[in-house]
Amino acid sequence: MAIHWITEENEKRIDALLAEMTLEEKIGQMRQPGPSLVGAFEVSFEELLDMRFDGKISDEEFQKMMSSVKMDYREEEVKAGKVGSFNGVSGAETVNAIQENALQSRHKIPLLFGMDVIHGYKTVYPIPLALAGSFEPELYRRAAEMAAEEASAAGVHWTYAPMVDVARDARWGRISEGAGEDTYLASVFAVHTVQGFQGEDISDGKHIIACAKHFAAYGGAEAGRDYNTIDISEQKLREVYLPPFEAAIKAGVGTLMPAFNDISGVPCSVNHQLLTEILRDEWGFEGFLISDANAIDECVNHGIAEDRKDAARQSVLAGMDMDMSSDCFFQNLEQLVKEGKVAEAEIDQAVRRILRLKFALGLVDQPIRTNTEREQETMLKPEFRALAREAAEKSIVLLKNENEALPLAGGKTLALIGALAADGEQMLGAWAMGGDGEACVSVKAALEAARQPFTWISGRKEDGSVDSEGIRTLCGQADIVLVAAGEQKEESGEAASRGELSLHPEDRDILRLVKESGKKSVLLLFNGRPLVLTEEVELVDAILECWHPGTEAGNAIVNILTGKVNPSAKITASFPAAVGQCPIYYNHTSTGRPAGKGKFTSKYLDIPVEPLYPFGYGLSYTSYEYADLKAEIREEAFQIEVTVKNTGERAGEEAVQIYLQDVAASRVRPVKELKAFEKVALEAGEQRKLCFTIPVAEMGFYSAGAVAAKPARIVESGLFRVYAGGNSRDTLCTEISYAEL
Ligand code: BGC
Repeated sequence: MAIHWITEENEKRIDALLAEMTLEEKIGQMRQPGPSLVGAFEVSFEELLDMRFDGKISDEEFQKMMSSVKMDYREEEVKAGKVGSFNGVSGAETVNAIQENALQSRHKIPLLFGMDVIHGYKTVYPIPLALAGSFEPELYRRAAEMAAEEASAAGVHWTYAPMVDVARDARWGRISEGAGEDTYLASVFAVHTVQGFQGEDISDGKHIIACAKHFAAYGGAEAGRDYNTIDISEQKLREVYLPPFEAAIKAGVGTLMPAFNDISGVPCSVNHQLLTEILRDEWGFEGFLISDANAIDECVNHGIAEDRKDAARQSVLAGMDMDMSSDCFFQNLEQLVKEGKVAEAEIDQAVRRILRLKFALGLVDQPIRTNTEREQETMLKPEFRALAREAAEKSIVLLKNENEALPLAGGKTLALIGALAADGEQMLGAWAMGGDGEACVSVKAALEAARQPFTWISGRKEDGSVDSEGIRTLCGQADIVLVAAGEQKEESGEAASRGELSLHPEDRDILRLVKESGKKSVLLLFNGRPLVLTEEVELVDAILECWHPGTEAGNAIVNILTGKVNPSAKITASFPAAVGQCPIYYNHTSTGRPAGKGKFTSKYLDIPVEPLYPFGYGLSYTSYEYADLKAEIREEAFQIEVTVKNTGERAGEEAVQIYLQDVAASRVRPVKELKAFEKVALEAGEQRKLCFTIPVAEMGFYSAGAVAAKPARIVESGLFRVYAGGNSRDTLCTEISYAEL
């Protein structure tokens, strides 16, 4: 049941408040600062971060400076009603103390505390890109619900999640934060995550307001470079990037965050078409918009605004409600109203939307919603850890398994190489702000706890170079060698685009040494994006894509290594065979010259055209066979049947995927598109017939001209292909004709 943010009773209370508030107090509601830092350093915090990044100060010096820093929670401004929300502050004691200040303001309007609770708070679940690969909507929901329970106990009211950006370029570091390259999957992920965070009763104290971000097309950043421009047709915008946002809104999401980027020349922060025409007029969104951090100010850099005041004017007129960090609204809106450049009614509108959520959350009636006791009891509860483990087990993808490398046979001597195998904190992945690194279980710790004899070395010398001798000696003594490699958690997420997607050269050298030893080997990958593994695949017997799996990383991995758990996850973003393929995604449109043997076909001279691993791919310790694919059209829906059999010797779970293709239409259509999936548990030898009903309208698209004139999805009569399989490449196919009613 989607939450409705507008209720008659609350609207009346808001009317009464608005009638009493001064313009300055109203603008205060639209302001979301972070705490300011009062430190012994002379430069701004941003400059300090740059200095650290540029190596002008060491990590140690930075930490030392930070330890002398005090947070200033803007007490006087809060008491004067000049702040509406805080960003990035949590902890029951701190939040409650600041809230007490807000309650001393004239209208006693409580502050909304927002934070990036992206994949868990204290207990951390796998990164979203990994979790999406479970193909289990209920798991998406449960992980978000538990994150909400912890975060709310720590005083957080609102998370800037889910990120529902479709991402098709692995160079973009933020691919880790969303569901991957597919629009349908991103929509399912959006709906269930929003439902998990917000629950059925947003005022129950255990749920938090969600925020679908980044509106829109942020994942389309040109060349995969973060914050870069996007120039796309409106058709592509509407068909590929917008549906997950619309789905989130239908699920009742309370807030949206416009993206940093411009779309075809108009930055999202000042984009009236997006923020008002599509969002409010077409979709009827009832919640409010929070800008991305400093994004309003950045409209000056974009060259779309003359100065900060102009940026504030354009943004508020486009439909933005709250300003994160930049203070452009706070410093300029009053003047803009006085000058008649912004009508006070615009301000009232934004404040109304913000207050709606404060009322709906129950914040106005119960501003203090947690305490330190509740906070302590709630963090890292056994059931959260159990869910984190289940989620990790269901997110880890078996990419390769030859020579019976996995599951590990008993009685063998095990070697473990790589710093990542011993570093719990690294398992948190990107955007785990509240995450407890010390609570994370590394692979090494989990093997020890499982009393599995093994020897670990980092494989590196103190200077970071490869410890060839150590590796050779260790391999000499072992029967099977596990190598942990990939990316540090800082290597994905925001501002973490990469131009090379291979393993770091030292890690590759380690794999070469292991290969030379002739011993059986398993690569344990930890990373926040698809990597190019073309060479690595040849060097090892098995690859387990563990991603950044969160708090229970090691335990989940050991359960898979030993066969206690049979891997079932699939990748939700194609793994390129070479970085030059990026962006690469399975649901591309047909070209006039599809890749083939002939020279003049759409391909490369020097690299393959197919990805190394396609969307939806993932192995298990058993095997599945698909048969009897049938399709018919009844009641304006594709009625599809397929039988799936577990042909191996172990029980397992398979994510059965259904793709459709509109074979000929008045616009070029994708070669196939995921339209349904179901995860089935099958005992060894068991088979099951699965039935899917996909409304024909799901194949709708925006026709030429109609997009600009009157946006409407259409479906045309004609031939459709139906595909079923365990990934987007290896599928059965049948055809069916559809005739419009
Ligand atoms: C990111 C957002 C995030 C915000 C607040 C920005 O830099 O783009 O995704 O929610 O910071 O931390």
